[in-house]
Amino acid sequence: MFDVNQIAVIGTGYVGLVSGACLSEFGLKVVCMDVDESKINCLKRGIIPIYEPGLEEIVVRNEKSGRLSFTTDIGEAVEHATVVFIAVGTPPQEDGSADLKYVLEAARSIAKCMNGYKIIVDKSTVPVGTGRKVKAVIREVLRERGVDYDFDVVSNPEFLREGSAVNDFMHPDRIVIGTQSNKARKTMRSVYRVLYINNHPFVFTNVETAEVIKYASNAFLATKITFINEIANLCEAVGANVQQVSNAIGLDKRIGKYFLHAGPGYGGSCFPKDTKALVNTGKEFGVEMSLIDSVINANDLHKLKMVDKITAALGDVEGKTIAVLGLSFKPETDDVREAPSSTIVHELHRRGAHIRAYDPAAMENAARFAFSDLPIAYAQDEYDCVAGAHAVVLVTEWNQFRSLDLEQMKSTMAAPYFFDFRNIYERRDVEEKGFAYFGVGR
Ligand code: UDX
Repeated sequence: MFDVNQIAVIGTGYVGLVSGACLSEFGLKVVCMDVDESKINCLKRGIIPIYEPGLEEIVVRNEKSGRLSFTTDIGEAVEHATVVFIAVGTPPQEDGSADLKYVLEAARSIAKCMNGYKIIVDKSTVPVGTGRKVKAVIREVLRERGVDYDFDVVSNPEFLREGSAVNDFMHPDRIVIGTQSNKARKTMRSVYRVLYINNHPFVFTNVETAEVIKYASNAFLATKITFINEIANLCEAVGANVQQVSNAIGLDKRIGKYFLHAGPGYGGSCFPKDTKALVNTGKEFGVEMSLIDSVINANDLHKLKMVDKITAALGDVEGKTIAVLGLSFKPETDDVREAPSSTIVHELHRRGAHIRAYDPAAMENAARFAFSDLPIAYAQDEYDCVAGAHAVVLVTEWNQFRSLDLEQMKSTMAAPYFFDFRNIYERRDVEEKGFAYFGVGR
């Protein structure tokens, strides 16, 4: 196997920080670089800017051992590294396409301080063709510098999920390596030697295929969720139970039981962004992606349907207080990007409701980002949240919301309506406590 002396990771967002920390846990020397000085200063002191179970221990342990370090100086990160990961953001532009500005800037900065053969690895989720653009940018800078170093560009998409990022990185379903270069392929296998030795499946392919794999995975999962949400709407209308439908169809191995939970619609930093970017890539290449386009529209409508459900039950929400439990797009994260709570709360507000909200981790982000434009009362805990409310709406299935003291809640509420948009309660149990219960698709 090829020896990898040091690894550089450019960008300490979700993917960059988790990848850097986990690679150092594999025993490699890793230098993580970010232009955000305050973030790097925090990381140097072992303060993690995101909420991610298990990450802090790994960062602190490997920092102490000297395997993991942080810098704002790209030269310091790249100088001794053979492999340089680009893990910067690819935010959506107005038309839904991914903005490659940060990726190409990173490529340019890497090229400016290249001092020998390097493998530049795209870890960010980037549209097809980005590998080629990265290569062109690096070539251009090297030409400007009048140097002629050999380099390879590899696409190595990351499939980790927020909330279980460390575990997903350490136990991936597959590692996708896109490159035509034999040398780069062998070096990448060496980077992931711990996973290779432990028989995790590796997919070696070309750059373009690796880039498509990432988008196709996310679009397929988003489709699966949207599919079951649509079936949930039908179940509700005809008196069927979507959970039983989901369990039963999931037993067919060709369908599979995962990602078939009906809910308020998918959210997060990946599915909404990547499905839109994929449709845009299609447009760019003259391919109509009508299925994925429908998924995006259906998901948007589904989120609004949740508000219709509340309005229909309460008659009208104007002037009423709605208690929202859970603001992050899923449990175990403080991320509120594209969270279903955002659409639901904005629409409830537009219809005249007063909002009280509680989330175990995401209230700060909610106040700063998702709801900075709304007058929301943030509560101290779930019981404080529902006091005086006309309805409780459970949007994110945090574990601590799974065994609420319904009696205590009801005693302080103005009206007993319970909307369980994650289907975590049994209708009977909630109705027994005197609530009117509304799930999704049952
Ligand atoms: C996703 C992919 O799973 C991951 O592989 C990729 O790298 C990044 O995007 P993430 O966005 O962190 O990860 O969250 P995920 O757990 O996939 O959930 C996405 C959304 O789908 C959440 O809003 C979640 O609540 C929703 N969801 C998921 C459902 O509504 N039903 C399900 O059955 C599963």
